[in-house]
Amino acid sequence: MQISGSSAVVVGGAGGLGEATVRRLHAAGAKVVVADLADEKGKALEQELGVRYVRTDATSEDDVQAALAEAESAGPLRISVDAHGGPASGGRLVGKDGSPLDLAGFRTTIDVYLTGVFNVLRLAAAAIARQEPLDGGRGVIVSTASIAAYEGQIGQLPYAAAKGGVVSMTLVAARDLSPLGIRVVTIAPGTFNTPAYGKAGDQLEAYWGPQIPYPKRMGLPAEYAGLVQHIVENDYLNGEVVRLDGALRFPPK
Ligand SMILES: NC(=O)c1ccc[n+]([C@@H]2O[C@H](COP(=O)([O-])OP(=O)(O)OC[C@H]3O[C@@H](n4cnc5c(N)ncnc54)[C@H](O)[C@@H]3O)[C@@H](O)[C@H]2O)c1
Repeated sequence: MQISGSSAVVVGGAGGLGEATVRRLHAAGAKVVVADLADEKGKALEQELGVRYVRTDATSEDDVQAALAEAESAGPLRISVDAHGGPASGGRLVGKDGSPLDLAGFRTTIDVYLTGVFNVLRLAAAAIARQEPLDGGRGVIVSTASIAAYEGQIGQLPYAAAKGGVVSMTLVAARDLSPLGIRVVTIAPGTFNTPAYGKAGDQLEAYWGPQIPYPKRMGLPAEYAGLVQHIVENDYLNGEVVRLDGALRFPPK
């Protein structure tokens, strides 16, 4: 599918992986809407690139609809990328004091990291379904999981459960949307040095770098964005989860 001339929504587009994707799709000629909660960064991208920023909570129907409507008004909406983050709770299933892992924290993590992705997936699919087909296809939806979906580490149970849900939605969504010519692909990143880690980024680089088979470093947001571009352009990629991890397999901790 050709990126140039299409309109695209990037949920979490003001974050590390999202911003790199916004820049990549914009450079390839898409009209991009940044859908995020980070007003300052979103508006800065608007100023710098001429993209549009719509304040969006991925878990809100109204917010996501508004971001999609903005994208539809700019041109045929064919690309939705979801790379939003948010709060995740964790801890051992049974703590040292014998207490069970917090239920409210589990629910919040599932809400942000699984329900939010589902919300974007369903609303983006309905919006892309309204577009005229181009060479038989209408568009593509990219979601973001994590290798924690497969190798959740100690203390990561809620996050791993949410990401596992994102992985499991991928094939079924691709099957559901196949009559509409809409592809669904998920990226499962390993460790990427993004603002999500704040000041701990350098320490994490020193910790993870040597553990990654090759290349011996954390991933670069531009590498994630490069994969998004390939997924959009390669019509035969569908219903798949692509690990992007330098062959890293998370150890138990
Ligand atoms: N960075 C990594 O190593 C890594 C590894 C595996 C998976 N991931 C996944 O990739 C995604 C992006 O990660 P990142 O490192 O770019 O994070 P990030 O913190 O740099 O960016 C996340 C963005 O999402 C926005 N956001 C937070 N809550 C939101 C909401 N409810 N609705 C819309 N936007 C919201 C934030 O404002 C921020 O701009 C996350 O889902 C994360 O779990 C990241």
